[in-house]
Amino acid sequence: MRLLVTGGAGFIGSNFVHYLYKERPDWHITVLDKLTYAGDEKNLAGLDASRFKFIKGDICDEATVDKAIASCEAVVHFAAETHVDNSLHGPDPFVYTNVVGTYQILEAVRKYDKRLHHVSTDEVYGDLQPGSPEKFSEETPYNPSSPYSATKAASDLLVRAWIRSYNIKATISNCSNNYGPYQHVEKFIPRAITNVLEGQKPKLYGKGANIRDWIYTQDHSSAVLMILEKGKIGETYMIGANGEKTNQEVLEMILELMGKPKDWYEHVADRPGHDLRYAIDATKIRSELGWTPTYTDFKRGLSETIEWYKNNREWWQPQKAATEEKYKKLGR
Ligand code: NAD
Ligand code: TYD
Repeated sequence: MRLLVTGGAGFIGSNFVHYLYKERPDWHITVLDKLTYAGDEKNLAGLDASRFKFIKGDICDEATVDKAIASCEAVVHFAAETHVDNSLHGPDPFVYTNVVGTYQILEAVRKYDKRLHHVSTDEVYGDLQPGSPEKFSEETPYNPSSPYSATKAASDLLVRAWIRSYNIKATISNCSNNYGPYQHVEKFIPRAITNVLEGQKPKLYGKGANIRDWIYTQDHSSAVLMILEKGKIGETYMIGANGEKTNQEVLEMILELMGKPKDWYEHVADRPGHDLRYAIDATKIRSELGWTPTYTDFKRGLSETIEWYKNNREWWQPQKAATEEKYKKLGR
Protein backbone atom coordinates (compact mmCIF):
# COMPACT_ATOMS: atom_id res chain seq x y z
CA MET A 1 0.00 0.00 0.00
CA ARG A 2 1.23 3.48 -0.92
CA LEU A 3 -0.73 5.84 1.35
CA LEU A 4 -0.87 9.63 1.16
CA VAL A 5 -1.59 11.37 4.47
CA THR A 6 -2.50 15.07 4.23
CA GLY A 7 -1.84 17.14 7.35
CA GLY A 8 0.46 14.40 8.65
CA ALA A 9 2.75 16.90 10.42
CA GLY A 10 -0.05 18.10 12.71
CA PHE A 11 -1.29 16.65 15.99
CA ILE A 12 -3.60 13.81 14.94
CA GLY A 13 -1.96 13.26 11.54
CA SER A 14 1.51 12.68 13.04
CA ASN A 15 0.13 10.36 15.71
CA PHE A 16 -1.63 8.45 12.91
CA VAL A 17 1.58 8.22 10.85
CA HIS A 18 3.55 6.83 13.83
CA TYR A 19 0.75 4.38 14.58
CA LEU A 20 0.59 3.19 10.97
CA TYR A 21 4.39 2.95 10.66
CA LYS A 22 4.33 0.49 13.57
CA GLU A 23 1.13 -1.40 12.65
CA ARG A 24 1.69 -1.75 8.87
CA PRO A 25 5.45 -2.21 8.33
CA ASP A 26 4.98 -3.10 4.65
CA TRP A 27 3.18 0.16 3.78
CA HIS A 28 4.81 3.25 2.27
CA ILE A 29 3.57 6.55 3.75
CA THR A 30 3.83 9.95 2.07
CA VAL A 31 2.86 13.04 4.07
CA LEU A 32 1.67 16.19 2.26
CA ASP A 33 1.66 19.15 4.65
CA LYS A 34 1.97 22.93 4.30
CA LEU A 35 3.68 23.24 7.69
CA THR A 36 1.46 26.04 9.00
CA TYR A 37 1.97 27.22 12.61
CA ALA A 38 0.24 23.91 13.59
CA GLY A 39 2.52 21.56 11.65
CA ASP A 40 6.10 20.56 12.44
CA GLU A 41 8.31 18.19 10.47
CA LYS A 42 9.99 17.24 13.76
CA ASN A 43 6.74 15.42 14.66
CA LEU A 44 7.74 12.86 12.01
CA ALA A 45 11.36 12.42 13.11
CA GLY A 46 12.85 8.91 13.10
CA LEU A 47 10.91 7.49 10.14
CA ASP A 48 13.04 5.58 7.63
CA ALA A 49 13.25 7.05 4.10
CA SER A 50 12.64 3.60 2.58
CA ARG A 51 9.11 3.66 4.00
CA PHE A 52 8.37 7.35 4.37
CA LYS A 53 8.46 10.55 2.32
CA PHE A 54 7.59 14.14 3.24
CA ILE A 55 6.24 16.68 0.74
CA LYS A 56 5.90 20.30 1.85
CA GLY A 57 2.88 21.63 -0.04
CA ASP A 58 -0.55 23.22 0.10
CA ILE A 59 -3.70 21.13 -0.47
CA CYS A 60 -5.26 24.19 -2.16
CA ASP A 61 -2.64 23.93 -4.91
CA GLU A 62 -4.12 21.86 -7.74
CA ALA A 63 -0.81 20.77 -9.32
CA THR A 64 0.72 19.69 -5.99
CA VAL A 65 -2.36 17.67 -5.04
CA ASP A 66 -2.70 16.14 -8.51
CA LYS A 67 0.90 14.92 -8.49
CA ALA A 68 0.77 13.54 -4.95
CA ILE A 69 -2.49 11.67 -5.52
CA ALA A 70 -1.42 10.30 -8.91
CA SER A 71 1.39 8.39 -7.24
CA CYS A 72 -0.46 6.87 -4.24
CA GLU A 73 -3.13 4.17 -3.88
CA ALA A 74 -5.20 5.76 -1.13
CA VAL A 75 -5.48 9.06 0.76
CA VAL A 76 -6.27 9.82 4.40
CA HIS A 77 -7.18 13.50 4.56
CA PHE A 78 -6.41 15.21 7.90
CA ALA A 79 -5.14 18.61 6.67
CA ALA A 80 -7.26 21.45 8.01
CA GLU A 81 -7.29 24.65 9.99
CA THR A 82 -8.61 23.36 13.30
CA HIS A 83 -8.83 25.87 16.13
CA VAL A 84 -12.27 27.37 16.89
CA ASP A 85 -10.85 30.50 18.60
CA ASN A 86 -8.65 31.23 15.55
CA SER A 87 -11.62 30.74 13.22
CA LEU A 88 -13.66 33.30 15.15
CA HIS A 89 -11.00 35.97 14.68
CA GLY A 90 -9.67 35.06 11.22
CA PRO A 91 -11.92 32.74 9.20
CA ASP A 92 -10.07 33.22 5.90
CA PRO A 93 -7.62 30.25 5.98
CA PHE A 94 -10.43 28.01 7.25
CA VAL A 95 -12.47 28.63 4.10
CA TYR A 96 -9.47 28.06 1.82
CA THR A 97 -7.92 25.00 3.44
CA ASN A 98 -11.02 23.22 4.71
CA VAL A 99 -13.30 23.88 1.73
CA VAL A 100 -11.12 24.63 -1.31
CA GLY A 101 -8.40 22.20 -0.17
CA THR A 102 -10.89 19.36 0.26
CA TYR A 103 -12.33 20.18 -3.17
CA GLN A 104 -8.85 19.79 -4.72
CA ILE A 105 -8.40 16.41 -3.00
CA LEU A 106 -11.81 15.27 -4.27
CA GLU A 107 -11.10 16.29 -7.84
CA ALA A 108 -7.79 14.41 -7.85
CA VAL A 109 -9.21 11.21 -6.31
CA ARG A 110 -12.01 11.39 -8.88
CA LYS A 111 -9.54 11.83 -11.77
CA TYR A 112 -7.29 8.94 -10.68
CA ASP A 113 -10.01 6.75 -9.09
CA LYS A 114 -8.23 6.53 -5.70
CA ARG A 115 -9.62 5.49 -2.30
CA LEU A 116 -10.19 8.43 0.10
CA HIS A 117 -10.86 8.58 3.81
CA HIS A 118 -11.96 12.07 4.93
CA VAL A 119 -11.30 12.90 8.61
CA SER A 120 -13.84 15.20 10.23
CA THR A 121 -15.19 16.32 13.56
CA ASP A 122 -18.35 15.95 15.66
CA GLU A 123 -18.52 19.78 15.75
CA VAL A 124 -20.35 19.72 12.38
CA TYR A 125 -23.49 18.62 14.27
CA GLY A 126 -23.66 21.72 16.49
CA ASP A 127 -24.17 21.08 20.19
CA LEU A 128 -26.36 19.14 22.65
CA GLN A 129 -27.98 20.14 25.94
CA PRO A 130 -26.01 19.11 29.04
CA GLY A 131 -27.98 16.47 30.95
CA SER A 132 -29.94 15.24 27.92
CA PRO A 133 -29.60 11.56 26.95
CA GLU A 134 -29.09 12.59 23.31
CA LYS A 135 -25.81 11.87 21.48
CA PHE A 136 -24.57 12.59 17.93
CA SER A 137 -24.99 9.74 15.47
CA GLU A 138 -24.47 9.29 11.72
CA GLU A 139 -28.09 10.43 11.24
CA THR A 140 -27.82 13.73 13.17
CA PRO A 141 -28.53 16.76 10.92
CA TYR A 142 -25.64 19.17 10.33
CA ASN A 143 -25.90 22.38 12.38
CA PRO A 144 -22.40 23.93 12.75
CA SER A 145 -21.81 26.92 15.07
CA SER A 146 -18.36 28.36 14.34
CA PRO A 147 -16.44 29.20 11.15
CA TYR A 148 -14.29 26.12 11.92
CA SER A 149 -17.21 23.72 12.19
CA ALA A 150 -19.05 25.35 9.26
CA THR A 151 -16.07 24.84 6.96
CA LYS A 152 -15.59 21.25 8.15
CA ALA A 153 -19.33 20.67 7.53
CA ALA A 154 -18.90 22.13 4.04
CA SER A 155 -15.99 19.75 3.40
CA ASP A 156 -18.04 16.73 4.56
CA LEU A 157 -20.94 17.74 2.30
CA LEU A 158 -18.57 18.04 -0.67
CA VAL A 159 -17.33 14.50 0.03
CA ARG A 160 -20.92 13.22 0.28
CA ALA A 161 -21.80 14.92 -3.03
CA TRP A 162 -18.72 13.48 -4.79
CA ILE A 163 -19.68 10.00 -3.53
CA ARG A 164 -23.25 10.34 -4.78
CA SER A 165 -22.60 12.19 -8.05
CA TYR A 166 -19.25 10.73 -9.13
CA ASN A 167 -19.13 7.40 -7.25
CA ILE A 168 -15.77 8.16 -5.69
CA LYS A 169 -14.53 5.47 -3.27
CA ALA A 170 -14.71 7.54 -0.08
CA THR A 171 -15.60 7.18 3.58
CA ILE A 172 -16.00 9.90 6.25
CA SER A 173 -15.43 9.83 10.00
CA ASN A 174 -16.59 12.36 12.60
CA CYS A 175 -14.58 12.09 15.80
CA SER A 176 -14.87 13.77 19.19
CA ASN A 177 -12.17 15.87 20.94
CA ASN A 178 -8.72 14.25 20.83
CA TYR A 179 -5.95 14.58 23.42
CA GLY A 180 -2.42 13.19 23.62
CA PRO A 181 1.17 14.03 22.61
CA TYR A 182 2.04 16.59 19.88
CA GLN A 183 -1.13 18.68 20.38
CA HIS A 184 -0.54 22.41 19.86
CA VAL A 185 -0.43 24.48 23.07
CA GLU A 186 -3.37 26.61 21.86
CA LYS A 187 -5.78 23.73 22.61
CA PHE A 188 -7.40 23.31 26.05
CA ILE A 189 -5.56 20.31 27.57
CA PRO A 190 -1.99 21.17 26.41
CA ARG A 191 -2.57 24.84 27.21
CA ALA A 192 -3.58 23.98 30.77
CA ILE A 193 -0.70 21.49 31.28
CA THR A 194 1.96 23.86 29.91
CA ASN A 195 0.56 26.79 31.91
CA VAL A 196 1.07 24.73 35.09
CA LEU A 197 4.58 23.74 33.94
CA GLU A 198 5.34 27.48 33.45
CA GLY A 199 3.94 28.40 36.88
CA GLN A 200 0.88 30.14 35.35
CA LYS A 201 -2.71 29.42 36.34
CA PRO A 202 -4.72 27.63 33.60
CA LYS A 203 -7.75 29.44 32.14
CA LEU A 204 -11.32 28.20 32.19
CA TYR A 205 -13.75 29.74 29.69
CA GLY A 206 -17.02 30.98 31.23
CA LYS A 207 -18.35 28.74 33.99
CA GLY A 208 -16.45 25.66 32.79
CA ALA A 209 -19.70 23.71 32.42
CA ASN A 210 -19.24 22.98 28.70
CA ILE A 211 -18.87 19.26 28.00
CA ARG A 212 -16.46 17.60 25.57
CA ASP A 213 -16.27 13.85 24.78
CA TRP A 214 -12.52 13.07 25.04
CA ILE A 215 -10.72 10.33 23.10
CA TYR A 216 -7.01 9.48 23.25
CA THR A 217 -5.51 10.19 19.84
CA GLN A 218 -4.21 6.62 19.39
CA ASP A 219 -7.78 5.34 19.55
CA HIS A 220 -8.73 7.78 16.78
CA SER A 221 -5.82 6.36 14.73
CA SER A 222 -6.95 2.75 15.18
CA ALA A 223 -10.49 3.70 14.14
CA VAL A 224 -9.32 5.53 11.00
CA LEU A 225 -7.13 2.58 9.96
CA MET A 226 -10.04 0.20 10.51
CA ILE A 227 -12.37 2.33 8.36
CA LEU A 228 -9.72 2.58 5.64
CA GLU A 229 -9.34 -1.20 5.52
CA LYS A 230 -12.81 -2.47 6.40
CA GLY A 231 -15.22 0.49 6.08
CA LYS A 232 -18.06 0.39 3.57
CA ILE A 233 -17.56 2.81 0.67
CA GLY A 234 -19.90 5.80 0.87
CA GLU A 235 -20.48 5.46 4.63
CA THR A 236 -19.96 7.83 7.54
CA TYR A 237 -18.69 6.54 10.91
CA MET A 238 -18.84 8.35 14.26
CA ILE A 239 -15.72 7.84 16.44
CA GLY A 240 -15.87 8.34 20.21
CA ALA A 241 -14.89 6.57 23.43
CA ASN A 242 -17.58 7.59 25.97
CA GLY A 243 -15.32 10.26 27.48
CA GLU A 244 -17.76 13.02 28.42
CA LYS A 245 -16.40 15.50 30.99
CA THR A 246 -17.07 19.14 31.83
CA ASN A 247 -14.12 21.45 31.22
CA GLN A 248 -13.99 22.11 34.96
CA GLU A 249 -13.69 18.35 35.67
CA VAL A 250 -10.84 18.06 33.14
CA LEU A 251 -9.01 21.03 34.62
CA GLU A 252 -9.40 19.77 38.20
CA MET A 253 -8.02 16.37 37.15
CA ILE A 254 -4.99 18.01 35.47
CA LEU A 255 -4.33 20.10 38.60
CA GLU A 256 -4.65 17.06 40.87
CA LEU A 257 -2.28 14.98 38.68
CA MET A 258 0.20 17.89 38.66
CA GLY A 259 0.11 18.39 42.44
CA LYS A 260 -1.74 21.72 42.51
CA PRO A 261 -4.87 22.70 44.50
CA LYS A 262 -7.96 21.92 42.47
CA ASP A 263 -9.07 25.57 42.36
CA TRP A 264 -5.68 26.83 41.07
CA TYR A 265 -7.13 28.31 37.85
CA GLU A 266 -8.65 31.55 36.52
CA HIS A 267 -12.07 32.08 35.00
CA VAL A 268 -11.77 34.07 31.76
CA ALA A 269 -14.28 35.50 29.25
CA ASP A 270 -16.35 32.90 27.46
CA ARG A 271 -15.92 32.05 23.77
CA PRO A 272 -18.63 33.61 21.56
CA GLY A 273 -21.17 31.01 20.41
CA HIS A 274 -19.50 28.44 22.70
CA ASP A 275 -20.90 24.93 21.99
CA LEU A 276 -22.37 23.50 25.21
CA ARG A 277 -21.94 19.77 24.84
CA TYR A 278 -20.62 17.16 22.39
CA ALA A 279 -21.31 13.43 22.83
CA ILE A 280 -20.79 10.56 20.41
CA ASP A 281 -22.81 7.41 19.85
CA ALA A 282 -20.19 5.09 18.32
CA THR A 283 -22.47 2.04 18.01
CA LYS A 284 -22.02 1.74 14.24
CA ILE A 285 -18.21 1.48 14.14
CA ARG A 286 -18.25 -0.80 17.19
CA SER A 287 -20.92 -3.19 15.91
CA GLU A 288 -20.25 -3.16 12.15
CA LEU A 289 -16.43 -3.01 12.16
CA GLY A 290 -15.67 -4.36 15.65
CA TRP A 291 -13.64 -1.29 16.74
CA THR A 292 -13.04 -0.69 20.44
CA PRO A 293 -10.93 2.00 22.13
CA THR A 294 -7.92 0.97 24.23
CA TYR A 295 -7.71 4.09 26.41
CA THR A 296 -10.94 3.82 28.39
CA ASP A 297 -9.37 5.30 31.54
CA PHE A 298 -9.24 9.08 30.97
CA LYS A 299 -7.03 9.65 34.01
CA ARG A 300 -4.42 7.24 32.64
CA GLY A 301 -4.44 8.93 29.21
CA LEU A 302 -4.23 12.33 30.85
CA SER A 303 -1.28 11.39 33.07
CA GLU A 304 0.62 9.96 30.05
CA THR A 305 -0.10 13.23 28.21
CA ILE A 306 1.16 15.29 31.17
CA GLU A 307 4.36 13.17 31.25
CA TRP A 308 4.86 13.80 27.52
CA TYR A 309 4.61 17.60 27.93
CA LYS A 310 6.94 17.44 30.96
CA ASN A 311 9.52 15.51 28.94
CA ASN A 312 9.23 17.50 25.70
CA ARG A 313 9.60 21.10 26.76
CA GLU A 314 11.79 21.88 23.74
CA TRP A 315 8.86 20.85 21.50
CA TRP A 316 6.23 23.21 22.95
CA GLN A 317 8.23 26.03 24.55
CA PRO A 318 8.98 27.92 21.28
CA GLN A 319 5.23 28.34 20.63
CA LYS A 320 4.07 29.06 24.16
CA ALA A 321 4.75 32.79 24.54
CA ALA A 322 3.23 33.75 21.16
CA THR A 323 0.16 31.62 21.87
CA GLU A 324 -0.42 33.26 25.25
CA GLU A 325 0.12 36.69 23.68
CA LYS A 326 -2.62 35.90 21.16
CA TYR A 327 -5.00 34.81 23.95
CA LYS A 328 -4.18 37.93 25.97
CA LYS A 329 -5.42 40.11 23.10
CA LEU A 330 -8.68 38.12 23.07
CA GLY A 331 -9.10 38.47 26.84
CA ARG A 332 -8.92 34.70 27.22
P1 NAD B 1 -3.69 20.40 13.63
O1 NAD B 1 -4.12 21.83 13.53
O2 NAD B 1 -2.85 19.95 14.76
O3 NAD B 1 -2.89 19.99 12.29
C1 NAD B 1 -3.32 20.36 11.02
C2 NAD B 1 -2.21 20.03 10.02
O4 NAD B 1 -2.67 20.39 8.70
C3 NAD B 1 -0.91 20.80 10.27
O5 NAD B 1 0.20 19.94 10.13
C4 NAD B 1 -0.91 21.87 9.16
O6 NAD B 1 0.39 22.27 8.77
C5 NAD B 1 -1.65 21.13 8.05
N1 NAD B 1 -2.28 22.07 7.10
C6 NAD B 1 -3.06 23.14 7.39
N2 NAD B 1 -3.42 23.76 6.25
C7 NAD B 1 -2.86 23.06 5.23
C8 NAD B 1 -2.88 23.21 3.81
N3 NAD B 1 -3.54 24.22 3.22
N4 NAD B 1 -2.21 22.30 3.06
C9 NAD B 1 -1.53 21.28 3.64
N5 NAD B 1 -1.47 21.11 4.98
C10 NAD B 1 -2.13 21.98 5.76
O7 NAD B 1 -5.04 19.56 13.52
P2 NAD B 1 -5.49 18.20 14.25
O8 NAD B 1 -6.05 18.53 15.57
O9 NAD B 1 -4.40 17.23 14.13
O10 NAD B 1 -6.71 17.78 13.31
C11 NAD B 1 -6.50 16.96 12.15
C12 NAD B 1 -7.84 16.66 11.52
O11 NAD B 1 -8.69 15.97 12.45
C13 NAD B 1 -8.64 17.90 11.07
O12 NAD B 1 -9.26 17.61 9.84
C14 NAD B 1 -9.66 18.09 12.17
O13 NAD B 1 -10.82 18.73 11.69
C15 NAD B 1 -9.93 16.65 12.57
N6 NAD B 1 -10.40 16.46 13.96
C16 NAD B 1 -9.71 17.01 15.00
C17 NAD B 1 -10.14 16.78 16.29
C18 NAD B 1 -9.37 17.33 17.49
O14 NAD B 1 -9.81 17.14 18.63
N7 NAD B 1 -8.22 17.98 17.31
C19 NAD B 1 -11.27 16.00 16.53
C20 NAD B 1 -11.95 15.44 15.44
C21 NAD B 1 -11.50 15.68 14.15
P1 TYD C 1 -10.49 23.32 22.46
O1 TYD C 1 -9.34 22.48 22.88
O2 TYD C 1 -10.23 24.62 21.79
O3 TYD C 1 -11.43 22.37 21.55
P2 TYD C 1 -12.91 22.64 20.93
O4 TYD C 1 -13.31 24.03 21.14
O5 TYD C 1 -12.70 22.35 19.48
O6 TYD C 1 -13.81 21.66 21.61
O7 TYD C 1 -11.39 23.62 23.73
C1 TYD C 1 -12.00 22.57 24.48
C2 TYD C 1 -12.92 23.21 25.50
O8 TYD C 1 -12.15 23.91 26.48
C3 TYD C 1 -13.86 24.23 24.90
O9 TYD C 1 -15.13 24.12 25.57
C4 TYD C 1 -13.22 25.58 25.23
C5 TYD C 1 -12.52 25.30 26.55
N1 TYD C 1 -11.24 26.03 26.83
C6 TYD C 1 -11.01 26.54 28.11
O10 TYD C 1 -11.89 26.47 29.02
N2 TYD C 1 -9.82 27.13 28.37
C7 TYD C 1 -8.84 27.26 27.43
O11 TYD C 1 -7.75 27.80 27.73
C8 TYD C 1 -9.09 26.74 26.11
C9 TYD C 1 -8.04 26.86 25.03
C10 TYD C 1 -10.31 26.12 25.86
